[in-house]
Amino acid sequence: MRDPDQYDDVAEVFARYSERAVFPITACLLEMTGLSIGQWVLDVACGSGMLTRAAAAVVGASGRAIGIDLSPGQIRVATSRSRQQGYHWNEFSLMDALRLGFANDSFDVVVAQFPHLPDRERCLAEMFRVLKPGGTFAICNGGGGAAAWPLAQAPLQAEIAAGGVIDGLFWLCLSEHFPHLIAQPAGNAPVVRDDPHVALRNELEQAGFGEICLWSYAYTAPFESAEEAFEWESVRTSAYRMAQSALNPASVVVFKRDYLRKAQVKRDQYGLLGITTAALFGMGYKPVRD
Ligand SMILES: C[S@@+](CC[C@H](N)C(=O)[O-])C[C@H]1O[C@@H](n2cnc3c(N)ncnc32)[C@H](O)[C@@H]1O
Repeated sequence: MRDPDQYDDVAEVFARYSERAVFPITACLLEMTGLSIGQWVLDVACGSGMLTRAAAAVVGASGRAIGIDLSPGQIRVATSRSRQQGYHWNEFSLMDALRLGFANDSFDVVVAQFPHLPDRERCLAEMFRVLKPGGTFAICNGGGGAAAWPLAQAPLQAEIAAGGVIDGLFWLCLSEHFPHLIAQPAGNAPVVRDDPHVALRNELEQAGFGEICLWSYAYTAPFESAEEAFEWESVRTSAYRMAQSALNPASVVVFKRDYLRKAQVKRDQYGLLGITTAALFGMGYKPVRD
């Protein structure tokens, strides 16, 4: 099924906001891989390609950066942004993470940033297969898969007052207006884990990766207005993005008005709003065969 998580219609908005609100996480993930010039890198469930393009800038024309995703809209936006940058060694393809169309041992580095995977075990096995022995794998989970630790202890960005951070407000309003949406899993988005650290380490071990290390990071992005905070939350929150077109439009108006009113109170008081993206990173190597 193409676009199983319904990103097509929001791909442009997703790209615009994620470049603002998520890029520090991307930079951290990329740095963890130690990617270098001339290497081949694969970005699985690349979305609008922010990480793939950042990787392309590192590997340069003697390397190759390939992004794959199942949403045609995301791949379109990724390709058009890459063309603007003129990176001919950066390619995007419509492909299912369940069946990667690459030979075994093709890539020096395989990455997946907030991927939505239909069957994580099988997708991780695919990512392991296409990685060269000795190559590096790095994945990061957000939402239900992320650790609680960075949210509690992340340093605030200097210009955002603690009271202006509205993490959880969108979810709270959803639970009041559309409780059925938060009670069920949304598409391929990761499900909430009791202990995400243990779950991620186990997954990587089972896939065959060695020298596994975990890391957490969180970034609180500034938002000038309640409207733009609402727009970002609407596209990034899978439970809402995927259900929105089927919701009663009048109820959506009431929900949005409620969120905007509550966010505006904070905006008036603190000047800037903050929304945090938290990530739990897992990294490992594909063992070299004897
Ligand atoms: C939260 S987005 C992350 C996008 C990008 N990695 C980023 O960090 O901006 C999740 C992505 O997973 C993609 N996806 C869902 N199921 C997929 C599958 N079976 N194969 C490949 N991509 C898939 C969605 O289309 C979406 O672009």
